[in-house]
Amino acid sequence: MCGIIGFTGSDQAQPYLIGGLKALEYRGYDSAGVAIEGPDGRIRTTKRLGKVKALEGALADRPTPGTCGIAHTRWATHGVPSERNAHPFCDCTGQIALAHNGIVENYAELRDELRAAGHVFTSETDTEVVVHLVESLYEGDLALALRRACKRLRGAWAFLAISSREPGVIVCARKGSPLVVASTEAGAMAASDITPLAPYASDVVSLRDGQFATLRPDGSVEVTDIEGEPSEQDHIAVDWEVSSATLGGYPDFMLKEIAEQPEALTRLLSGRVQSGIVDLDEISMSVEELRSADRVVVAACGTSYHAGLVAKSLIESWAHIPCEVDVASEVLYREVLADDRTLCLVITQSGETAETLLCARKLRSQGARVLAITNVLGSTAARMADGVIYLQAGPEVSVASTKAYTSMLVSVAMIALFLAYHRGRMSEDQVADRLSELERVPAAVSMVLDRQGLATSAARAFEGADSALFLGRGLNASSAKEGALKLKEVSYLHAEAYPSGEMKHGPIALVDEGYPVVFVVPDDAVRDKTISNMAEVKARGAHIIAVATEGDGQVESLADDVMWLPPTAPWCTPITAAVYLQLMARDVAIARGCDVDRPRNLAKSVTTE
Ligand code: G6P
Repeated sequence: MCGIIGFTGSDQAQPYLIGGLKALEYRGYDSAGVAIEGPDGRIRTTKRLGKVKALEGALADRPTPGTCGIAHTRWATHGVPSERNAHPFCDCTGQIALAHNGIVENYAELRDELRAAGHVFTSETDTEVVVHLVESLYEGDLALALRRACKRLRGAWAFLAISSREPGVIVCARKGSPLVVASTEAGAMAASDITPLAPYASDVVSLRDGQFATLRPDGSVEVTDIEGEPSEQDHIAVDWEVSSATLGGYPDFMLKEIAEQPEALTRLLSGRVQSGIVDLDEISMSVEELRSADRVVVAACGTSYHAGLVAKSLIESWAHIPCEVDVASEVLYREVLADDRTLCLVITQSGETAETLLCARKLRSQGARVLAITNVLGSTAARMADGVIYLQAGPEVSVASTKAYTSMLVSVAMIALFLAYHRGRMSEDQVADRLSELERVPAAVSMVLDRQGLATSAARAFEGADSALFLGRGLNASSAKEGALKLKEVSYLHAEAYPSGEMKHGPIALVDEGYPVVFVVPDDAVRDKTISNMAEVKARGAHIIAVATEGDGQVESLADDVMWLPPTAPWCTPITAAVYLQLMARDVAIARGCDVDRPRNLAKSVTTE
């Protein structure tokens, strides 16, 4: 949802800005641009339509010298993707440049007002009004002008601005969109998230909503409120290895992140499973607060919503707490029964998804306690929640979520066990048994990765297809949904997902000769029912791809391709099955020539509603 980066210091800014944009590209790649203050005091902008590579190429041909600059990678909201609508924007004099992540809701009225005062607009964006507004309020102090401008805005923003009249100074503002700032050896930096700063800083300041920052080339970082009064700084220690945000020999981040799953899951479990019980010590909520919940509401979007479906099943069956789950955008606009005995579970890799955060606020206003599952340290979700469980999966760069998803599945299982134990629904021994089943999952995931060839063979069934059906029952109905989403996201193939039992109520009409149908059918309590569904589509000529427990002869006789799951507890199969479905989706996408890390139209972090 747009990424912004700024550098000021003693080095040339351009390499920092381009490197930063690459790290932030998962947030959008409709266009990219830089604005750099040259040694002659002039601000020069370079913008290109499309991915950062295009901008990098342009700057390689004509480098922009200068030690202070800001840059932006865009996910279009207002105005089509084009160079004209690419950030950063300059004011009428060319002396101020500004980049923005977010949406200015009252831009139309401000634009009319500024136009009437003589300002000339060159784009269709909401952002451009801000740079003209800052220009109109500028009296020699850029930080003051930006604070004044923000008082007139409605919406969400993270802004970076520079002025040639204040060389070397970057001013920043945050409300609703993430922004972190850091002092580095070579100067000071600001960015939409920690990833581009991690190579240069071991400590960053995550700005709060309503905070402003001024960065100077000597590395100083001043944080204020909207009146310019010094404001508290929330420091976050950066413990991500720089290597975790680089390709490290893999052809793409998606494959790298799929391969990292055994390690990520082991890390997640090792910190939390102590002598057979779940230790959720990062939770600042008391055990009493958690176990007194008589209702759980899960809110999440996209892949995280699919983890929410699994959370519902496990929490209800193990902890016996009624649990509802819905996509966050739906929770927002309907009556949700919640009070001070409701636990709101928000699941969000980025911790910045607008709708998910709004849900947490809505339920909290009704009295609920908020527990966040997130991957990003210091993210808005982490900071606003009463309790947070970090996935510790390391940066997930590829837009399609892989390692964060399986980490979410493990996390929700741990929460369900924690609640079951503390509500007296499971004995210590029962919890310990489940945990030892969970602890065997990373090794099972490694075995799946060793059998990557099965996914590659299965992917061939999609050659020439323009649609596919994904089916599964019980816990694996969510696996079917996630498998279909992954395929759509990276290969642009249409895919439908249904609980297997629903197949005969409509989706079976899609099936004809060679039509690909993916069944997630491990050896569990509902396997036999799903096998019947397999026979039904087989009779109609479908090409069946199954994800099944190894040694299942019946599946083998019905399916055209099988991705064999190593034996695990049935409730763990959504984790191992997800890995095959991720690998298969990637293979299909590569065969179709798609950019798996940056699928068209998508952004990894959707910070606007
Ligand atoms: C976007 C991404 C999805 C992601 C969803 C929720 O749509 O493209 O991959 O699952 O947002 O993101 P979150 O960060 O809240 O988990």
